[in-house]
Amino acid sequence: MFAKNCVGTVRRAGLGASFMARRTKVTLPELDWDFNALEPHISGKINELHYSKHHQTYVNGFNTAVEQLEDLSSQLAKEPSPSVARKILGVQQNLKFHGGGYTNHCLFWKNLAPESQGGGEPPKGALAEQIESQFGSLDNLIKLTNTKLAGIQGSGWAFLVKDLDNGGKLEVVQRYNQDTVTGSLIPVLAIDAWEHAYYLQYENRKAEYFGAIWNVVNWKEAARRFETCEIK
Ligand SMILES: [Fe+2]
Repeated sequence: MFAKNCVGTVRRAGLGASFMARRTKVTLPELDWDFNALEPHISGKINELHYSKHHQTYVNGFNTAVEQLEDLSSQLAKEPSPSVARKILGVQQNLKFHGGGYTNHCLFWKNLAPESQGGGEPPKGALAEQIESQFGSLDNLIKLTNTKLAGIQGSGWAFLVKDLDNGGKLEVVQRYNQDTVTGSLIPVLAIDAWEHAYYLQYENRKAEYFGAIWNVVNWKEAARRFETCEIK
């Protein structure tokens, strides 16, 4: 959870006793649109597989890793030892991968919208002003982001972030695998550069996918994140 005033430092939630006690599982988020609603830019089949297979795998993997971490933490309390500590470190790899996959895709679905629901319409308000001030134009920001996306070797993501440690300025950052942005970096947009996000439709022409996705970017949601620093 972040402080309401999102221009200063970040107030991070503690992982206290309530975290250890809970067994609530995360689930796939509800989509605001049908699978085929982003066509022709992203096919319905891609969205269906991406959501119901790939994202579901991250959801399941995250829930499993959290449960294992809880069990091992209890074990560590009874038997403090390097052996249990090593098991915890092993689980943390899965926690990072599947937790990143779970949260990154939640951001992704929400920051996309069909053209009929405003997808691709340029941002307004504070976000539009910040983009103009830092990059000169939205087109320049898109070009920069596409360059970052094209530069990802293998699988990863590009994020447009608001950096609270740098006066709330925007920045475009790359992340590999399912690594995400945390702490002072507030995700404004998340763009998936994994092959599963485009290959069925664009095959090896990933630059075409990076070009097309801007037609369905939900800048309204991006502006909301930028202004409030709240991630749903
Ligand atoms: Fe993905």
